[in-house]
Amino acid sequence: MKSAIYPGSFDPVTLGHLDIIRRSAQLADHLIVGVLNNSTKKPLFSVEERVNMLKEVTKDLENVEIMSFQGLLVDFAREQNVQVIIRGLRAVTDFEYELAMSQTNRVANSDIDTIFLNTSLKYAYLSSSIVKEMAMYGGDIRKFVPAQIIDRVYEKYNIIR
Ligand code: PNS
Repeated sequence: MKSAIYPGSFDPVTLGHLDIIRRSAQLADHLIVGVLNNSTKKPLFSVEERVNMLKEVTKDLENVEIMSFQGLLVDFAREQNVQVIIRGLRAVTDFEYELAMSQTNRVANSDIDTIFLNTSLKYAYLSSSIVKEMAMYGGDIRKFVPAQIIDRVYEKYNIIR
């Protein structure tokens, strides 16, 4: 595969996301991680913070580029000249939403296909929301997010550990 986009909110990036990034970077010559910057979502981290965290945790992956995008994913893909979108599937509960999204994207641009990677079993339960919920109450998030960003998550909730 030449190029692919792995889009998401990454608020914050989890070990599950990083696992999909690493595996996708082996499947595509060039992988763009697209960080959503839409005003309708109220993220914990600013788009700059999310982009910077992703850059830090993927700095060993030479074919991975981190970019932010606004508006529709299909428009971003068209601008970047990319036909393949990658999404991770954790469980059957993800399926309905992901299928609808991929079908909508194909209706909007029939050149674009979505490829689903199954999440590693180790991270099948994990989500950015779980990370935030655990961190908010001072729970241990070391098994959930890359080591480089642990303190930044706690800082958002003024938690000193
Ligand atoms: O990490 P997330 O929040 O599950 O990622 C969702 C994302 C960013 C892939 C999705 O919300 C998205 O593509 N948003 C951009 C707007 C768009 O193109 N929507 C698709 C039509 S349903």
